[in-house]
Amino acid sequence: MSLRWVHESPSFWDADKARIVGEAPSGIFDSRFRRLRLGALVPGDWFHAEDEGRRVVGYGWLDASWGDAEIQVATDPNARGRGVGSFILERLQLEADMRGLNYLYNLVRPTHPQLQATTEWFLKRGFQAVDDGRLVREARPRASIPPP
Ligand SMILES: CC(C)(COP(=O)(O)OP(=O)(O)OC[C@H]1O[C@@H](n2cnc3c(N)ncnc32)[C@H](O)[C@@H]1OP(=O)(O)O)[C@@H](O)C(=O)NCCC(=O)NCCS
Repeated sequence: MSLRWVHESPSFWDADKARIVGEAPSGIFDSRFRRLRLGALVPGDWFHAEDEGRRVVGYGWLDASWGDAEIQVATDPNARGRGVGSFILERLQLEADMRGLNYLYNLVRPTHPQLQATTEWFLKRGFQAVDDGRLVREARPRASIPPP
């Protein structure tokens, strides 16, 4: 699948986010997403991946604080297992690199219905578990993002 990476700036809660993030099983993301009205501004730096038909097939977003960025990823359940999540992770890494951040991290919530499989998904992609429960990957500062 050929994917296009789109930075949303600003980012609004829309039907695609409601479908892919809002309708994710409870326990994965912040439950406040479910209460957002369509058209509301969403906090954080959001990106989406589009397929050849311009359909949104996944989201990645990051929240940076003190030089580290918490990242989150969600792919359309109908597009899983085809590399969309890996593509989003790589692009988020490049975004973090370009911003001069130190670390990317994800905290798979203990309430995640697929806690172990999702943790392994990050570990397989270069993240390391640290003692506070976060999965961390170092950013690599660079001057610019290569073209998609
Ligand atoms: C985790 C997630 C982003 C993976 O997306 P994806 O588009 O299927 O990712 P990829 O196609 O790049 O990788 C799929 C691989 O991960 C494995 N996998 C691990 N955990 C998985 C999970 N919870 N769901 C689906 N596949 C998972 C698959 O078996 C597959 O393995 P393979 O590469 O050996 O075939 C997606 O399942 C998702 O959106 N889950 C719900 C939200 C979530 O948990 N986000 C992460 C925490 S913020």
